Amino acid sequence: MVLYNAQTNKMLVDEIVDAHVLVIGSGGAGVRAAIEASRYGSVVMVSKTIAGKGGCTTMAEGGFNAVLREADSIEVHREDTLKGGAYLNDPALVDALVREAPERMADLVRWGAVFDVTDDRQVAQRPFGGQRFPRTCYAGDRTGHELIMTLLDRLDATDTQLYQEVSVVDLVKDEDGAVAGAIALDRDGSPVLFSADATVLATGGGTQVYDVSTNSAAGTGDGYAMGYRAGAELIDMEMVQFHPTGAIYPYDARGRLVTEAVRGEGGILLNARRERFMERYDPARMELSTRDVVARAIATEVLEGRGTARGGVYLDVTHLPAEKIESRLPVMLEQFLAYGVDIRREPMEVAPTAHHIMGGLRITPECRTSLKGLFACGEVAGGVHGANRLGGNALAETQVFGKRAGESAGKAPARSGKVDSAGVDGVLRVLDGFFEGAASPAAVRKDLKLTMWSQAGIFRTAPDLRTALGHIRRLADQRLCAASTANLLECCTVRNMCTTASLIVRCALLRPENRGAHVRRDATVITEPAASPFSHTYISLAREGIEQREAAA
Ligand code: FUM
Repeated sequence: MVLYNAQTNKMLVDEIVDAHVLVIGSGGAGVRAAIEASRYGSVVMVSKTIAGKGGCTTMAEGGFNAVLREADSIEVHREDTLKGGAYLNDPALVDALVREAPERMADLVRWGAVFDVTDDRQVAQRPFGGQRFPRTCYAGDRTGHELIMTLLDRLDATDTQLYQEVSVVDLVKDEDGAVAGAIALDRDGSPVLFSADATVLATGGGTQVYDVSTNSAAGTGDGYAMGYRAGAELIDMEMVQFHPTGAIYPYDARGRLVTEAVRGEGGILLNARRERFMERYDPARMELSTRDVVARAIATEVLEGRGTARGGVYLDVTHLPAEKIESRLPVMLEQFLAYGVDIRREPMEVAPTAHHIMGGLRITPECRTSLKGLFACGEVAGGVHGANRLGGNALAETQVFGKRAGESAGKAPARSGKVDSAGVDGVLRVLDGFFEGAASPAAVRKDLKLTMWSQAGIFRTAPDLRTALGHIRRLADQRLCAASTANLLECCTVRNMCTTASLIVRCALLRPENRGAHVRRDATVITEPAASPFSHTYISLAREGIEQREAAA
């Protein structure tokens, strides 16, 4: 097999690693997948960050939805999820989520996760938006951190080989066209080939393509872009969730998550006139309406001149007992104290921030993608949350579908074909090309983020989206420049961000209706979500479009 670029002879694959299962990503879904897959054979997990330190799981604050009480029911969780998702969710995926979330919670507790408990030692649950029962389990407001630390401990007890600060550049295929692993760059920028019988994509989300985002620096949409380039089909990429409450100052903290748990624990939203404005947008559910509704309400207050001077609204918990704030929201308390605000005595200022991509690679309930040999789970996969995700359903998704993906990949047969050397060579040639580019990746990244924020945000129109797409295409056509091997990763990342942004905008142009998080001011189809004539948008190298709905939910 040729493992060098014959034309330039510059980039060599320094190392080849073989495994039965390759897991790409070390967030909640990836680690859960690796734990499960390790029951069937050798597993290699590749993480572009230090596992547990980067990625979004560790930053998830509010909680994990699971039906644990008799007064609640799987059916109500299912209905809440479908209604919250504006009936765009794939019902089979929702069924798996709501049925298996309680078992996956039990796994975590059995493995030592410390969740808050009630006086009678039951896992405590708090209310979250769009849910008719308080079913969000939590560990204060650092739930994701507790979850990932527990999973990493459990992973340690398996034989999984973990490669940290190693970033996957592209998937590779075998001579039969099945996904056969991936090429990555190690921390020195040297290529490594991982070859596997089955590959699990668990790369998380990509809202770093927006100027203001809750995502960690790692949330650059790599998995969407790699899946697309490999020929996988993606769905509903236009469905981007703007979390209603992100920090707006200081400048460096812009977009940082202010957990929905603040509202779950009784926090209220006020505009600059101190009006509790949610009365105008959702008088029944108020601050615990779904995120799409609350984010639009805040954006509307600000756009119509009722926001604060900094362009946000107030989120107030000063009416709550100080002990409640200290015990249930310790991270929020500490975070705002660092910004000079004592939330026990003064309100926070917040505004919407890009948080989660509901779309992603199309999967079956077994987490198979449209490509043989490739499985996907967690935020990189689409279909579970439809047009709007309920807070607390993401951590549950990582565990339910992480386990499912790990099991499916673990049971995959051994591949017979060899890794296609022409594909490997093609990836190396792209990397070589970055040494000859001229454009600054940092400048392209900044331009892209501003474009997405101003033209593909909460409120959209076709002309804005077309302008954005034209600009993204011009940015993507620039030849990015790597001054040394250490800069190759930045070039790969910015290339992925351009691809992810263009997938979001192209799908936003395909959907001519308002649905969940996707609002087209120029919508031509006005219906209630349950009566919409449309189902998923889809996009791949081969085709793109929007599906007609078979029947109303
Ligand atoms: O607001 C939050 O704590 C976020 C939770 C989630 O996105 O599920």
